[in-house]
Amino acid sequence: MQRSVPELLAAKRDGHALTADEIRGFIEGFVRGDVPDYQMTAFAMAVFFRGMTRDETVALTLAMRDSGVVVDLSHVKGLKVDKHSTGGVGDKVSLCLAPMVAACGVPVPMVSGRGLGHTGGTLDKLEAIPGFSVNLPIARYAELVGEVGTCMIGQTRELAPADKRLYALRDVTATVESVPLIVASILSKKLAEGIDGLVLDVKVGSGAFMKTPERARELATALVEVARGAGKQCVAWITRMDRPLGRAVGNALETIEAFDVLHGRGPADLTEVTLALGASMLVMGGVAKTDDEGRALLREAVTSGRAAEVARRMVAAQGGDPRAVDDPSVFAQAPVKAVLRAPADGWIAAIDTHAVGVAGVTLGAGRTRAEDPIDHAVGFVFERNVGDRVAKGDVVATLHLRDESQVAPALDRLGRALTLSQSAPAEVPLLHERIG
Ligand code: URA
Repeated sequence: MQRSVPELLAAKRDGHALTADEIRGFIEGFVRGDVPDYQMTAFAMAVFFRGMTRDETVALTLAMRDSGVVVDLSHVKGLKVDKHSTGGVGDKVSLCLAPMVAACGVPVPMVSGRGLGHTGGTLDKLEAIPGFSVNLPIARYAELVGEVGTCMIGQTRELAPADKRLYALRDVTATVESVPLIVASILSKKLAEGIDGLVLDVKVGSGAFMKTPERARELATALVEVARGAGKQCVAWITRMDRPLGRAVGNALETIEAFDVLHGRGPADLTEVTLALGASMLVMGGVAKTDDEGRALLREAVTSGRAAEVARRMVAAQGGDPRAVDDPSVFAQAPVKAVLRAPADGWIAAIDTHAVGVAGVTLGAGRTRAEDPIDHAVGFVFERNVGDRVAKGDVVATLHLRDESQVAPALDRLGRALTLSQSAPAEVPLLHERIG
């Protein structure tokens, strides 16, 4: 006999597992409007406290994926592989990774998000390119994945609408920080894109959603197991986010830096994370047998100029100015510059990366509400990072600002995010571990 919604809620509240059919029926009822928001919210809170089994999480992910369109990319040859990052500060990897991987013959369909809170978003960085549109119809997105090898768009109303509505409820009912709900939210959107495989970048540290290696491992393991349970290939890298990735924070500055990677002149840490994730994508896509072979192919795509050429074609196909890939002067520039100097001799022992993200948001580089406008030109470029030795007065960061009134508060916020020490801090690996 079928259980009613209150009976399902009671079962979850008491820690019992629901069947896949029950979960699917519940999500379908929510999308139809038969399950009201208060019942969905009660469900989210019950899951928050009681968790879900892997089978339940797979069922929730698939039901949420099927609440909208699942893109058919079967006309595109080869295995389609995407990357998802749990988000960080200065994380512009997608912008260089997608063209590099596509240039090696693995199509990269990518539906990305906007920045919210202290983290940036790929869509905002792309929109720093004059003319670039992230709002393409699904049919055009599917065409471009085939024609160019990659296409980067924003979430549309057709893709996983159950997630959009559920996330809005979670956001205001203290139920975001639940691993099964996060997993179903991330994967339902990714599985709707038309992918065969997914490489995850789970960030850990002061600028990440997951602050400790244990929490990052828990999320990475759940994501990999549930994606595989849903029939997709998946691996996760856990990577360092206790300092900004690369040197730039802020939309135009980050996009310029990501394009530097395509020309072989990107910062070492950004290049290394891009190569690690990209090599896993090439192995998953079947064009490399090993990670080492994948790295060699990616490097060759850069030195031959093919990766930059894919980026130019992608930018042009999405309405942007393709000169942006080669020429930073195409981007809007912030009119005011200031420098943050080291207050004493020593080592940079820590950067409160969350605080750096918040400092960027305060300038207008990010948003606190979904409808806030973005200032693409403002941000920071770090000349020094965690682990570097500095002398008093050395420039630690250059600030790119909209007007003079931002100088003093931005210098203060950024200055307070730095911790200097009198000895070198312990080394932290950039790539913590790979799961799956
Ligand atoms: N990102 C998502 O897309 N969903 C979550 O629930 C958390 C982070």
